[in-house]
Parts: sequence; structure tokens; C-alpha cells
Amino acid sequence: MNIILIGFMGAGKTTLAEILNKKLKNFKHLEVDEIIRKKSSLKSINQIFKKKGEIGFRKLEIQAIKQISQNKKNQIISCGGGVVLNQINMLRLKRSGTVFYLYAPFAVIKKRLQGDDSRPLFKDINKAKALFGFRHPIYKFYSDQIINTHLGAAEKKAQKIIDKINL
Ligand code: S3P
Repeated sequence: MNIILIGFMGAGKTTLAEILNKKLKNFKHLEVDEIIRKKSSLKSINQIFKKKGEIGFRKLEIQAIKQISQNKKNQIISCGGGVVLNQINMLRLKRSGTVFYLYAPFAVIKKRLQGDDSRPLFKDINKAKALFGFRHPIYKFYSDQIINTHLGAAEKKAQKIIDKINL
């Protein structure tokens, strides 16, 4: 089955996916945002939001998730933070593997993303904080396991995920 990483922007999905990818030789890492960006032929997520709006971005996200979740084996899928907004996305993903919610408190995320302007929905800090509060229960609802990324070494978190899928 697949390993699916969900969670807010800056929660550590890409970092953990890369560690998992090194440890699990027979898995491949898919970054959903990168698949969407390539499909759009635009140069960044910011550009997609600018030219197509958030709705245009979400349409591409649905297409990407549909395609990726058809393969139910040996993929590490790091999703964009908003993937949980669409129930169909989550039904497709949950059918294809185990879902891990990568959690860190908002204060930690804020620090991690300081000076990073690549995320259109993290430009206004108050809005981002409200979004975090709104989404936290949704991430929890869809997850099979919660991984705290602000405590302890990332290597240990990766091992926890591997132990869970090997049960
Ligand atoms: C988004 C998160 C981003 C990206 C887009 C929208 C969101 O991905 O998909 O900017 O709605 O939370 P990351 O979570 O990888 O930053």
C-alpha cells in the first residue's frame, strides 16, 4: 500500500518523505504539488494561483490525486496542505494506503516558514493561523496515525511510519 503524508504547510511532509524514500528502496516519492506544477506548465504554485485562482489549482489537485491513487503500491505521497478540503481526494487516498497526519504547533510552523514566500496561502499570517485551526480537526479525522514533527529526530518519525506499515 501507499504511504500518504498530509498536514499543514511547513509540517515537514517533504522532509519526511525524502527520508522515507532513502530508507525504503522499493518505494518512490511523489510530491503532489510538483506533479500539479508540471501539468500546469507554469513555473510555481504562486503562478498557478495567480493565473488560475485557487479553484483552478484545486481542479488540478483533484486530477493529480485521482491519477496517483490508482496505483496502490509502494508510493510515498506528500500532499499539499489543502488536499483534505475535498472529500473525494481523501476517499481515493485512503483507499490507496495509510494516511499519516504530520503535526506541529502553529508557532513552530510560523518559524519554519519565515522568509519563505512560495506559499500563496501563507502570506497573511492571521489568515494562515485561522486556516490551521480550521483544518487541524480535518487532518485528524482522515489520519490513521498522527506524527508530531516538532519533537524528536525526523529519523525516528520515519521509523514510526515504517513500523506502522509493516504491521
Ligand atoms: C496549500 C499547501 C501547499 C500548496 C498550495 C496550497 C494549502 O502545499 O499545495 O500552496 O492549501 O495548504 P504544502 O503543504 O506542501 O506547502
